[in-house]
Amino acid sequence: MNKETYNKNLVVIIAAVAATGGLLFGFDTGVISGAIPFFQRDFLLSNSMVENITTAGLVGAVIGAMFTGRLSDIFGRRKTILGASIIFVLGAVWSGWAPNPHSLIIARLFIGLAIGISSFSVPLYIAEISPNHIRGRLVSLFQLLITIGILVSYLSDEAFANNANPESWRPMFYVGVIPGLILLIGMIFLPETPRWLMSKGREEESRRILKRIEEPSEVEASLKGMKEEIEKYKERARFTEVFKPWLRTALMIAVGIMFFQQFVGINTVIYYSPKIFLIAGFEGARAAIWGAVSVGVINVAFTVLSLFMIDKLGRRKLFFIGTAGIVVSLIALGLVFAFLPSLGTMGKWLSIIFVWIYIAFFAISLGPLGWLFISEVFPLRVRGIGSSIGSLSNWFFNGIVAFTFFKIIKLFTMPGTGIITHEKLYDATTHTFTMQAVNNGNPAGAFWFYAILGVLGLIWGYFYLPETKGVSLEKIEEHWRQGGKPRDLKE
Ligand code: BGC
Repeated sequence: MNKETYNKNLVVIIAAVAATGGLLFGFDTGVISGAIPFFQRDFLLSNSMVENITTAGLVGAVIGAMFTGRLSDIFGRRKTILGASIIFVLGAVWSGWAPNPHSLIIARLFIGLAIGISSFSVPLYIAEISPNHIRGRLVSLFQLLITIGILVSYLSDEAFANNANPESWRPMFYVGVIPGLILLIGMIFLPETPRWLMSKGREEESRRILKRIEEPSEVEASLKGMKEEIEKYKERARFTEVFKPWLRTALMIAVGIMFFQQFVGINTVIYYSPKIFLIAGFEGARAAIWGAVSVGVINVAFTVLSLFMIDKLGRRKLFFIGTAGIVVSLIALGLVFAFLPSLGTMGKWLSIIFVWIYIAFFAISLGPLGWLFISEVFPLRVRGIGSSIGSLSNWFFNGIVAFTFFKIIKLFTMPGTGIITHEKLYDATTHTFTMQAVNNGNPAGAFWFYAILGVLGLIWGYFYLPETKGVSLEKIEEHWRQGGKPRDLKE
């Protein structure tokens, strides 16, 4: 292929390869739940040690997002993702090989770093390389691959789970090497983004890449737009720029969208769905696992749908439709659990149906929109640090929701409404699995609590979410510089 000929599909291929970072994100956050019972038995671990191992990934992600945003502004988007892919591969090998629990903690921390780094640098890379009219769709490929990664992790955990072999957890972790290598090899061949090159004064290289990915009639206009924006504001951007008053709105959008993405309780449904289905009355580990797989499939299917809507309907409409749907299904889920005893067998089916509806609405809105907005709203020279703050917020809020979920259930359970289940649990003193009766509280109040946060999200979004559909990144930057309100941004 001629190095300078335009190829309509090239940018899609580039975005899809980079989006493998999302596959790793989804896989590596999902894989741990199926591996826990095995490494707990293998290493004879207490529950608090297991908690340390799972928390390590989250802590790593926060650290990764916190300290590497600036690096992607200095060394480029491509090199940052390359770095993350190397960590992914090494981390997966290390996790599978770990000879003792402390080693496993460090391996998960290490993988977490890569998740934190890739979760802002991949969307950012795709946003900067995409033509405006399909930017939403291409960045959403990242979310699509997150959902596929989560599903693959459930399925591969299922495939490797072998009760006769306590070391079954090792192959579960080793699987992560495959997507890691795809990302690593892919990024060796992928180009740097034209926008970052331009910000470093490398106009010719930027033009060469644009000629391959932008329609020929658009190339010079795109270059001109970037150049004008860079020349108009020549002052050196320090990383503190991102906290200056003119960028307060951008910061508010990035942190806010991640706050609501996490505080509608998405991961309580994604990761605790086996438990939720158990409480609703589906008996046996198998039923619960297949319930979780069904959630994973719906998540993938509706994220695919979002790809077709995000650049047509626009971001704001999807946000309102999706968040309103999330609120209604959370209220309905709460009602199902509040009246569970009187619903009989219908109760468990209603619970699974409302979880599906909830996931579908999340998948067309807050899921893809979170990662899209953090990659779009910051100006070029602080885009790395800005979107890393968005990603950091995501992981931070994710952690808070995860640690408070069961406490919130307990807090909002009316006396006498707790649901009892019988589960095979690990007893850390005798190191055996025994059937135990568990009082789970009642999650109705927790679902209503997340519904209230969803309503607050709708109000917040009305004032703070811009419509960035079809708008160039340069025009978004200019809008903030002029002191424009988010709602006034137009194509
Ligand atoms: C969120 C994750 C979530 C996933 C589910 C992502 O956008 O950031 O926390 O697990 O969507 O699809």
